[in-house]
Amino acid sequence: MTVEFPVEAVREKFPALGRAAPFVYFDNAAGAQLPQNVLDAVAHHLLDVNVQRGGRYAKSREVDRVIANGREKVAAWLNASDPSEVCFGMNATSFIRLVSLAIGQTIQPDRNVFVLTDLDHDANVATWLALKRMGAEFVWWKMRDDGRLYVEDLLPLLSERTRLVACTAVSHALGSLVDIAAVARAAHGVGAEMFLDCVHYGPHAVIDVQAWDCDYLVCSGYKAFAPHMGFLWGKRDRLVALPTFREEFIPDEPPYKVEAGTFIFENVAGMSAAIDYFEALGRGLGAHNQTLRGAIETAMAAIRAYEQTLSRALLDVLAEVEATVYGVHDSANVSLRVPTICFKLGEMHPAEVVERMSEMNFGIRDGHMYAPRLMARLGLAMDRGCARVSLVHYNTIDEIHRFGEALREIRERARRD
Ligand SMILES: Cc1ncc(COP(=O)(O)O)c(C=O)c1O
Repeated sequence: MTVEFPVEAVREKFPALGRAAPFVYFDNAAGAQLPQNVLDAVAHHLLDVNVQRGGRYAKSREVDRVIANGREKVAAWLNASDPSEVCFGMNATSFIRLVSLAIGQTIQPDRNVFVLTDLDHDANVATWLALKRMGAEFVWWKMRDDGRLYVEDLLPLLSERTRLVACTAVSHALGSLVDIAAVARAAHGVGAEMFLDCVHYGPHAVIDVQAWDCDYLVCSGYKAFAPHMGFLWGKRDRLVALPTFREEFIPDEPPYKVEAGTFIFENVAGMSAAIDYFEALGRGLGAHNQTLRGAIETAMAAIRAYEQTLSRALLDVLAEVEATVYGVHDSANVSLRVPTICFKLGEMHPAEVVERMSEMNFGIRDGHMYAPRLMARLGLAMDRGCARVSLVHYNTIDEIHRFGEALREIRERARRD
């Protein structure tokens, strides 16, 4: 079934796509393009607002308002209970490090086990492994050969000694989705916490921290149509309990106790505008009279449905050129994934595939995907890795067909040479 999605109208909102044509951007897992209203919000902030917060003059009060508005918007996007649960900063990695260092200070010898996965980005692995010197021990929740994490494999790893389960919401490499609510239930069942890496999930589907019941979550704005910035969400009581570094004059309460120093206010303005973009998309799709949250849910559900058609078309094209797809490869199972796919084309070196694709105006990526354990698991060398194609909702079926033709051509050329 083809899902109706206003992709041409969507594309018009992203000026970078038209400016770069005929270049096709299929490297969205490394960061997405920005809609015009986000560009406008950043420019407006820098031109008309750009001062330090906390001053007794109009521009400074406006910065305070931009930050407060950003927290409210992000809270609606996540379905957080309160905007004070949203903390702004540089990127996801620095927030994972911040939370892990704080949790590291609370490790008890009888509750010191951290469950990590071999599917995750190393940002959500190395940061926790660094707690070894604070007494942490680790067990590995391993993906199965189909590239998915199964909660039934997690259950036997849990015990009253488990301190925390750290996992991703969806693989940034293989695109496989994780049953987040079930992970949180399992972790809480033994009195452990759950830390969720939502970086790759953000642009693809509805986030709902209350339904998922995770304890902490990180996202990067730049993966979700906003500028380079990141944020941490945590349940308020968890953030209150977290021992963080704080200068004396900073209030000892979230979000302030988690935000060391000045962050980049124009990027917070851009993050708010990205959520306005989701809202407008949802309203355009029929959510006229709904709340902000309702409109966001409508937009993200439509994005999710449309992206499944993209996944299906991508898998079909990759099957036609006889590429090896790592992870969920059956186009009947696209509900288990997002359109982020690691693949191998015959015996060609992934770097060569990506170079040839670049010559043909496609931006895709090769390498280890910042996931050394995943590479080991797939039997891929770190210095070689694989090729990855990653789409979002402004990509089209037509682009996928052109991608397929280009792949076919380079495969034929490789066979001839
Ligand atoms: C799944 C995932 N987690 C974490 C990160 C790190 O995010 P950041 O660059 O915001 O530190 C990335 C970046 O690619 C990612 O894809």
